[in-house]
Amino acid sequence: MLPVYHNTLDFARQSDESDPLQDFRNRFLFPQHDDREVVYFTGNSLGLQSKSVRTALEQELSDWAALGVEGHFHATTPWWQYHKALQEPLARVIGAKPEEVVAMNSLTVNLHLMLVTFYQPTPERYKILCEAGSFPSDDYALETHVRMRGLKPEDVIVEIAPRQGETTLRSEDILEAIRNAGQSLALVMFAGVQYYTGQVFDMKSITYAAHHVGAFACFDLAHAVGNIPMKLHEWRVDAAVWCSYKYLNSSPGGVAGMFVHERHATNKDLPRLAGWWGNEESERFQMKKGFRPALGAQSWQLSNPPAILMAAHKAALEIFDEAGIERLRKKSEELTGFLEFVIRDVAGSRITIITPTNPAERGAQLSLFIEKNGRAVFEYLLANGAIVDWREPNVIRAAPAPLYNSFEDVWRFGELLKEALAM
Ligand SMILES: Cc1ncc(COP(=O)(O)O)c(C=O)c1O
Repeated sequence: MLPVYHNTLDFARQSDESDPLQDFRNRFLFPQHDDREVVYFTGNSLGLQSKSVRTALEQELSDWAALGVEGHFHATTPWWQYHKALQEPLARVIGAKPEEVVAMNSLTVNLHLMLVTFYQPTPERYKILCEAGSFPSDDYALETHVRMRGLKPEDVIVEIAPRQGETTLRSEDILEAIRNAGQSLALVMFAGVQYYTGQVFDMKSITYAAHHVGAFACFDLAHAVGNIPMKLHEWRVDAAVWCSYKYLNSSPGGVAGMFVHERHATNKDLPRLAGWWGNEESERFQMKKGFRPALGAQSWQLSNPPAILMAAHKAALEIFDEAGIERLRKKSEELTGFLEFVIRDVAGSRITIITPTNPAERGAQLSLFIEKNGRAVFEYLLANGAIVDWREPNVIRAAPAPLYNSFEDVWRFGELLKEALAM
């Protein structure tokens, strides 16, 4: 049954009072505007700082000061194995086994590492299917790998776009495009959640369809991780990558992650870019020639982990884990549903929400298409304490993060939007 919403402060406050996750808000630091917390709706871009992060960073600095290089083995969280401390909580966020997960590098670097392994074209099977309008870094990465294999992007990359007059992709069209590419398809590379429209893709069906024609299915989960529950292991996704600075709140440019399904992560013959940190752990310090990959996703690591960034990631994940992705998703559906209701109430037909209406096909984010004066509306919101973001040509993205946003935030956003539209 759909919840019944009312665009009133009373309704918002009552909803907050009955929210089992309401106390998590107090564990985050909010930017201030006119001596009060801003309405922060950009957790889809950069999550807020949790109060525990400073303590975690100070711990690393103290350990470094007191131990120097010995911190690799004797720090509170020994640095040389930092990635292991993150495997279990990350596995719970994405529905994986701990050995299938590794925290490392940044997202675009991991995209490249994933493509080195999972784009292996042959003369017969060389095409890549992806969404039109995917994030530029993803496009650039795909083009790089195609060219490096001596192929031309226009011969290889098949982009699938929404139908004429529609803004999001239909699942049946994606699956049909996979079937049509058939035996020529080497890789399906999709987002989990589309960064511009906020659409959730059916990763399970996409993976199944890709495997049915003999292709790999890989995902960029930048906007999906910490936003929607996933079951990457069970869905048999081949590999996926993400960043941790959005819904996982793990610091600007913080450590990203990679998932490699068990059946590949245990295959030592798969090609990959090698570095000493991916080598068999027991031999890592023997300085021998010849790379021998460790077991699991950790063997895609290149370098020793950046302890300071890992500490921020770990502290943020502890809070995330306590809340739990399933409880967060439940609140997220209600919060985003309320945001949709409030926007329709104050804006009527002046704003088109291009994000799907069906809660199962969207996460926290709503993308608002504003026909006229969109930029001015955005500037007004920003100047008056509502932080949202702007994506050319005329879309405002607003994403209430269930971990720290409240129903009252949504109500306040509606009031500011009303003022902005009345300008
Ligand atoms: C979908 C997607 N892919 C790739 C990137 C690039 O991330 P990074 O700069 O961390 O490599 C982003 C950044 O926001 C993104 O949203």
